[in-house]
Amino acid sequence: MTGQHPVEIDTSRPHPARMYDWYLGGKDNYPVDEAMGRQMLALDPRVPVMARVNRAFMHRATRWLAGRGIRQFLDVGTGIPTEPNLHQVAQRIAPDARVVYCDNDPIVLAHAAALLRGTDEGATEYLQADVRDPDAILEGARKILDLTEPVALSLIALLHFVPDEDGAHDLVGRLLAALPSGSHLVVTHATADFTPEESKAATEKLKAAGVTLALRSREEFTRFFDGLDLVDPGVQVPHRWHPELGEPVAGQDDGVIPGYGAVGRKP
Ligand SMILES: C[S@@+](CC[C@H](N)C(=O)[O-])C[C@H]1O[C@@H](n2cnc3c(N)ncnc32)[C@H](O)[C@@H]1O
Repeated sequence: MTGQHPVEIDTSRPHPARMYDWYLGGKDNYPVDEAMGRQMLALDPRVPVMARVNRAFMHRATRWLAGRGIRQFLDVGTGIPTEPNLHQVAQRIAPDARVVYCDNDPIVLAHAAALLRGTDEGATEYLQADVRDPDAILEGARKILDLTEPVALSLIALLHFVPDEDGAHDLVGRLLAALPSGSHLVVTHATADFTPEESKAATEKLKAAGVTLALRSREEFTRFFDGLDLVDPGVQVPHRWHPELGEPVAGQDDGVIPGYGAVGRKP
């Protein structure tokens, strides 16, 4: 593991990684995370389904990429481990897959050992770093990944925590610029396009608790893929992206999950 600091966990305010763990039924969260999670649930009861749909998208996109010969994965905004994790999905198809995980929340670092149990043929590594410091991420990733060969860069349910003031689109561009042709970008992102009232209320509640939520429109989401070729079926609500590659998520009907998911290929 690199980029390590002594693990200091702030339990006085909710954290996205721990709220997400709570939505997924995990145990690595604190009362403050559950309390905020319950407030989100009161605003929109689909929140736990959204978390599962998002996770299922990650599984399908990883399977799709590994099935097309991608052997290197850089996953930023990894979250608290929830099985199966990305390396398990990839290494089931390609045991030699190499995976670098990265998150800025110390609680993810505290649980990183579970992310490092991969195959003998492959490799997994964890970096504690912030997506707003792409140079640090690339420097750490180079120790495990060969950046002259294609890499799948996944930013799953991460970028809505990065406001425009922090240069979200530029940060993605800087990470992609270091990757060769044939690399892929995998993104899911929350949007207010379908449920503006609920989304506004959720954003305000989170802001009051110190969590920034930068919801983006379909057009703003699609801009993350500028210069890439979107692979079929393009920008979708996440559960409609290659549903045939996974199991349906319990509780999900055919209604709209307020988010987008897509995969693009660097030409
Ligand atoms: C909703 S969770 C998503 C976890 C996982 N990618 C998934 O989809 O299952 C968002 C994750 O992004 C991380 N995160 C938020 N802001 C970040 C930043 N600036 N740099 C790196 N990670 C960040 C959080 O700590 C959290 O683990």
